[in-house]
Amino acid sequence: MALTESEFDYVRRLVYRESAIVLAPGKEYLVEARLAPLARAAEVSGVNAYVAKLMQCPDRATEARVVDALTTNETSWYRDGAPFEVFRSTVLPALLADRPVNQPIRIWSAACSTGQEPYTLSMILGEQLGSTPRTAEIMATDLSDDALARAKAGRYSQLEINRGLPAAMLVKHFRREGTEWVVGDAVRSRISFRKFNLISPTPPSTGFDVVFLRNVLIYFDAETRRGVLRRIRAAMRPDGWLFLGAAETTIGIDDDWDRVVVGRTSVHRARAPLATAAAVRRV
Ligand SMILES: C[S@@+](CC[C@H](N)C(=O)[O-])C[C@H]1O[C@@H](n2cnc3c(N)ncnc32)[C@H](O)[C@@H]1O
Repeated sequence: MALTESEFDYVRRLVYRESAIVLAPGKEYLVEARLAPLARAAEVSGVNAYVAKLMQCPDRATEARVVDALTTNETSWYRDGAPFEVFRSTVLPALLADRPVNQPIRIWSAACSTGQEPYTLSMILGEQLGSTPRTAEIMATDLSDDALARAKAGRYSQLEINRGLPAAMLVKHFRREGTEWVVGDAVRSRISFRKFNLISPTPPSTGFDVVFLRNVLIYFDAETRRGVLRRIRAAMRPDGWLFLGAAETTIGIDDDWDRVVVGRTSVHRARAPLATAAAVRRV
């Protein structure tokens, strides 16, 4: 049976309170589809019964499972191509030129989902830093326990590998175990994974040179986007680089960023500091 208005409203409020994800009216089908496996696992008669029970006796563990189920973890390797190409060809060389040799390049993958984004960044870093003395650290965070567990495991099906991973990278950085591909230790070693909610008032760390905050702001309302962008700005070095998803912008949300067009994409930089790469054009 379809969710009642009050059951949907309960889930909508819970998810907003815990994650800031907006479930607009019309998303009832999404809630029903995502909660169906939880209802089955709990051996209740359906999503209605599952939500009704939670409304009567709220418990933190079930609430957390509901919120996790309503995160959208869609991702892929080198997603959209251009941001990773610009990271490789423009941002990384600029950082290597600017930063002291003994200072690690610090990157935050701020909604890392099942890991394809931070592992892509780590593969690029491996290729570019090679045998130089330079090091890099990636902090990869997400709200979803399920997605993070998968990211940490670093094990992917052939179907997942087929979504954007070049054959040369597969051969070089993965090993086969049964039907799965497992990320190699060198690629893993640059990344630390941890749970982090983007609505938290304090960032998981500070001093980031680069932040990938891709394809997550789209789930938030304007107020939440503003708060997240401000806190991200505070967590970055003043001359850092922010990558957003193709459908995301700072414009009209947090105007203390400059959008800089580089190649076939744009990167965001906190206002005031100068762009270091000659290749960039401020718009
Ligand atoms: C569509 S995925 C994007 C993954 C990756 N950045 C990419 O572009 O491919 C969105 C991710 O944002 C995470 N997310 C949603 N709300 C969040 C929040 N409040 N704090 C942290 N992560 C959140 C979800 O769990 C999900 O893994």
